[in-house]
Parts: sequence; structure tokens; C-alpha cells
Amino acid sequence: MLIRHASDILPSEITAPAIHAGRRHFVRNLLAAGAGISLGPLASASTAEAPPFGTPKASPFSLRDEKPTAFKSITSYGNFYEFGPDKDSPARHAHRLRPRPWSVTIDGEVKNAKTFGIEDILAWPALEERIYRLRCVEGWSAVIPWIGFPFSELLKRIEPTGNAKFVEFWSLADPEQMPFVRLPFLDWPYREALRLDEAKHPLTILAVGMYGEVMPKQNGAPLRLVVPWKYGFKSAKSIVRIRFVEKQPETSWIKAAPDEYGFYSNVNPEVPHKRWSQSHERRLGEFFKRKTLPFNGYADQVAGLYAGMDLHKNF
Ligand code: MTE
Repeated sequence: MLIRHASDILPSEITAPAIHAGRRHFVRNLLAAGAGISLGPLASASTAEAPPFGTPKASPFSLRDEKPTAFKSITSYGNFYEFGPDKDSPARHAHRLRPRPWSVTIDGEVKNAKTFGIEDILAWPALEERIYRLRCVEGWSAVIPWIGFPFSELLKRIEPTGNAKFVEFWSLADPEQMPFVRLPFLDWPYREALRLDEAKHPLTILAVGMYGEVMPKQNGAPLRLVVPWKYGFKSAKSIVRIRFVEKQPETSWIKAAPDEYGFYSNVNPEVPHKRWSQSHERRLGEFFKRKTLPFNGYADQVAGLYAGMDLHKNF
């Protein structure tokens, strides 16, 4: 039950980062043959359970004037390579993910390393709904009402040492639940990272739900990062570890294709991807393209983080 058909989307938009069409089919067929994975019709991997959290507060950071993308579009079209390379792979296969029990380990340059159960995190106050733009590096975008906590809520509970300069986010990599981590087309576990000041920025959230519901499995249950001024791949899904480190870490995408995916990955219409322009984007569910905005429209809030930096070099 695909919402968008191939004819709606330009090839540059559907090409997975660093994964060309031939490779996608290779990976798909190899896995289907080797691991007995069904490539059958789309199954909804979203859950019908009641949200395990209270009513989130509306946030002043929410967009006011842009209509949220249809829930069905954003839950049936996306990237979660642990479940396969196609846009419908996450919706087909993420039903295998078991978001309970779940814990998140915080370690590295912190005074007290700690492991939180997901229930502990869900009980934190300061739960908010944040309607944000999401811009994928491939050229599609969406407007999503996330439910989550400012990242600073975590910092209140964890004291980073003076050496902490970067924060690394590790996704789960369990081959039993995530069949594609058996294939080394990315360096698993999926790892992304931010500079500490980016992580601390009030726009950065740890999301536990969307559209008033618990986070659908294909969108990164039970806990994912959302950094709205950066390309979507910075926002790691299904996080199990958050590590504070001194040196800029290598991320899975930088390891895969360093000339295509820079550490910063701020949405920047002036810096094309190696294989396509980043000047325009297509909102899921819309026909005409729109212009991509610097920092995905959040320049007023975040441009200051990069004062004095050459963002063509630090892309
Ligand atoms: N996190 C993990 N663990 N694995 C992934 O493949 N894909 C990224 C990001 N987080 C990805 C991930 C990319 S490329 C995008 S665009 C967003 O998730 C998509 O999030 P969405 O499916 O909620 O739109």
C-alpha cells in the first residue's frame, strides 16, 4: 500500500544515500534468499497502543503555518536501513523491532555513567509537542508533529565532564530484529554525532512519539533524535547509547562516503550533494517542488552556532 509511487519521485530523490539502484536490488535479493525475509506486501509496523506518556505541552518552537504531512505518508516512506534499503522497507520489516524492554546507556565523558530504562525517560516532565520540518538529504521533506524532550533534559540528569565536546548516538544493531545489519553496506551500529553545543541547542529533541501517538517502529521507536536544521540522517533512530566524547567521532555515513556526507550536514541549498542539487525539495504528498531554506528554515535560531565557519568546507 505505497502512498507515493515511483512516478511521483525523481530518481535522485529515491536513491538511498551511497546506495545505488543496482546495489539496492542486490541487497534486497541477497537478503530475501539468504535470510528468508518476506518481501511481500506492505505491513503497517505502527502500533495501536495508547501512548505511555502524559499530554505533551505545545511548544513555542512549533511551526504555526505549515500543514503536517499525512501520518500515513511518513510511516510508509522513509529510511531505516537496518530494515532494508527501499523506502517501504521500514514499514514492511520494522514490526520485528521490540521496543520493550529498552534501555539507553549514557557513558564516556560524564561524571556518572548511567543506564536509563525507557520507562524512566517517559516519566520525565517537560514533554512537548514540536511541529518541525524534516528535510532528507535525498530531496524529500515532511512536516512532523514530534513528541519529545529537549536534549537538555538529559543533560540535567547526566553531568558531562569538561572534556565532553561531542555527543555520539548509537542505534540498536540486533540482527534478530534488524535483518539488514547482517550486511556490511553501512558500518553498524548506525552512529551519528553532534557537537555538544548543537546537542544542547533548545531545538534538539529526543523524540518518543509523533502525531499524538507512541513512536511508530519504522520511525525509530522507542527513542530517536530530532535535529530539525540538519539533514534527516543526523537524527538517529532507536537509540541505545549516547556517548559524550572529546574528539569529533566518525559516523556511519562519513565512513561510507566521506565526500558525500559531512559531519555538520546542515541543510544548505548552496552546497549540492555530490550527485544532486540541494536547492529544492518535494514535500511528501505534494507535486510541486519548493525551495529549500538555509538551515531548513531555522537559520534565525541556529546560524550563530556556525559563526566564522566556512560551511562549504564544513558541509
Ligand atoms: N537512523 C537509523 N538508525 N537508521 C537509518 O537508516 N535513516 C536516517 C534517519 N535516522 C536512519 C536513521 C535518514 S536518512 C532519515 S531521512 C531519517 O532517519 C528518516 O526519518 P523518518 O523515517 O522518521 O522520516
